Amino acid sequence: MGKKIILTGDRPTGKLHIGHYVGSLRRRVELQNSGNFDEIFIMIADAQALTDNADNPEKVRQNIIEVALDYLSAGLDPEKCHIFIQSQVSELTELTFFYMNLVTVQRLQRNPTVKQEIQLRGYSDNNEVADNKAGTPVGFFTYPISQAADITAFKATTVPVGEDQEPMIEQTREIVRKFNSVYGETLVEPDIMLPDNAACLRLPGTDGKAKMSKSLGNCIYLSDSAEDVKAKVKGMFTDPGHLQVSDPGKVEGNTVFTYLDAFCKPEHFDKFPQCFVSKKSSFEFHSLDEVKEQYRKGGLGDMMIKNFLNEVLNDTLEPIRNRRKELEQNLPYVYQVLQEGSKAACEVAAKTLSDVKRAMRINYFDPGVLEELIKEQSERYTTVSDSK
Ligand code: TRP
Repeated sequence: MGKKIILTGDRPTGKLHIGHYVGSLRRRVELQNSGNFDEIFIMIADAQALTDNADNPEKVRQNIIEVALDYLSAGLDPEKCHIFIQSQVSELTELTFFYMNLVTVQRLQRNPTVKQEIQLRGYSDNNEVADNKAGTPVGFFTYPISQAADITAFKATTVPVGEDQEPMIEQTREIVRKFNSVYGETLVEPDIMLPDNAACLRLPGTDGKAKMSKSLGNCIYLSDSAEDVKAKVKGMFTDPGHLQVSDPGKVEGNTVFTYLDAFCKPEHFDKFPQCFVSKKSSFEFHSLDEVKEQYRKGGLGDMMIKNFLNEVLNDTLEPIRNRRKELEQNLPYVYQVLQEGSKAACEVAAKTLSDVKRAMRINYFDPGVLEELIKEQSERYTTVSDSK
């Protein structure tokens, strides 16, 4: 039986928010604790972050520690997984260079995520000015290939990511198949693992916009204080048609309910019954379905569901916040985790790179290979002079 190996990661371009948490981080912690995997590699993708932040390396550098703090406080355990920094594993760039020969420009241009990101960053079709913002940096354009190197270097079988990463995994699988068919069975084809709960696939922003993003200012961060979370929940988008408490309300597209779908657990109804008790009305709920039913009927106010959501969020976020505070006081430990993780990652990636070079027959100076090579090439010359 082959080993089961996970590789996944994030670009260090900002602190992680609750969308990252329900979309990937929570799952990673579960997978880590399931004992179902032989090795787990979690990568802070600083080199990938630099592909569209070449002029802002300081931002990437600062956010490496933010992401590491978020990881550890959310429950990733360095005893059970290797947390490492991409740029410290130079084998990844070498693999990328060889894989580049197996992918066409046209294929990259069709990658939907790359296409969309090029649009989003305003890189499209302005190649005349040699300015950073005009035109697509080649490194950015080719990052799906480098992502294939990230995954295959660890012979990962499972890549838990959000659905926006699906085209990347598909492209990786193509590269693996191409490599293996040209050079012989060497690399492992990975499977994507998507979030299992629809609400977690893409958590909307607090304003109801499709995506949480720093630039839109609609994020709740893992590192936010309890007061910040409370204020953000209070200002959240609900159903604009739900004007009076007595009006029937819509649950679909109502961000408070989407967040509840992502965070609420059955025990929260026993833990926070007081949220549904006020002078004007009180309810006793035992499940989210009952809350939704009442909201649809009318009579359940936004204040109540927001209070409940705040408690539910805090129940998850408080332990994370507390662990983060402790870790912030112990940065040498956090950097040590990253250094050791990077060392472990280098060892595995070096082994794969050596397999790759052997398969491509560019391992000239490996033990035993040079003798063979000299013999083979000498025979050619002997043949040439003999045939005179
Ligand atoms: N592209 C991912 C992101 O935007 C980060 C990443 C880089 C990654 N390499 C990876 C994810 C390999 C999974 C596997 O967050």
